[in-house]
Amino acid sequence: MACLVMPQRSRWPMLGMIALALVTVMQPQPGGAQDYGDTPYVQTPQNVVDRMLQVANVGPGDYVIDLGSGDGRMVITAARKYGARGFGVDLDRRLVQLANRLAARAGVADRAVFYERDLYDTDLSAASVVTIYLLPEVNLMVRPKLLATLKPGTRIVSHDYNMGDWPPDQQMVLDAPDKPVGRDKKSKVFFWVVPANAAGKWRWRLPVDGKPADFELVVSQNFQTITGSMMVGGNAWKLENARLSGVDVSFTANDPRAATRYAFAGRIAGHGITGTARVTGASIQRQLEWDATRTELGAPAHALLKKPELRDLQQLQ
Ligand SMILES: C[S@@+](CC[C@H](N)C(=O)[O-])C[C@H]1O[C@@H](n2cnc3c(N)ncnc32)[C@H](O)[C@@H]1O
Repeated sequence: MACLVMPQRSRWPMLGMIALALVTVMQPQPGGAQDYGDTPYVQTPQNVVDRMLQVANVGPGDYVIDLGSGDGRMVITAARKYGARGFGVDLDRRLVQLANRLAARAGVADRAVFYERDLYDTDLSAASVVTIYLLPEVNLMVRPKLLATLKPGTRIVSHDYNMGDWPPDQQMVLDAPDKPVGRDKKSKVFFWVVPANAAGKWRWRLPVDGKPADFELVVSQNFQTITGSMMVGGNAWKLENARLSGVDVSFTANDPRAATRYAFAGRIAGHGITGTARVTGASIQRQLEWDATRTELGAPAHALLKKPELRDLQQLQ
């Protein structure tokens, strides 16, 4: 997108000019109203489309939603090459018509459908993968909706722009010789997994030194980053290696008196976690079933952020 090569400060005032330039570059079909909404139309080069779908590990079980779908290449490729289903939405009626025609031509009209719709009014609940190629500010505007309405574990992949302070789980730069904008002919790809809410207080019982003990874990969360503290039978244990990816949570905890290490790994479902605890020490090595219950629900820090307003974003520049 043209704004890649512009300094942040000048992006919004230049948007009209960019849209104009890009409309010329893309030579849209004549006739009919155009509404480029927040983000002007620029195609993602096909090799970048493929890489985005591969990074998101799209397969036949997936439901892909492209927000701002242009000529439909993201969802059409997901259906044609990777066996997925899905839909795209765009404000531009002619692009929506074009995308539906191209889906029919590719023989995937039953699995790749396009609607004239505002992405902010789109129900995302069916998605297992969401793809975007929007402006950085638009990514920030749509981020609260993605975090609040997508199922934990849903993968998000973005062309060229990140999501502000939500760190990506993966990112890469690749050559994009067919990119219609930018001088360096490179594209960035950013990938996230929507994290479950792990925040709050969790309790369970497991044997320690052969006797049942109460474990209490307090988790703080910001996006997929989790930190916490653990008490076991009234003693503090050191919590390390805490990780959250979608609904998958894992961490280790050390019994300070016995040099015994507990490695927990499980899946969050609502207010429960089920998984395993691998216990290793000088004379012990065993795997236990692990069932935790959330006794106090916490709010991840990112959920407490207010939705950014356009005027806030303008003030940031
Ligand atoms: C940069 S293009 C990306 C097209 C396509 N996803 C791709 O990667 O090739 C962004 C698209 O978003 C559409 N768009 C902009 N704002 C939108 C909104 N609020 N709701 C739906 N579509 C929007 C534009 O019409 C444009 O087609």
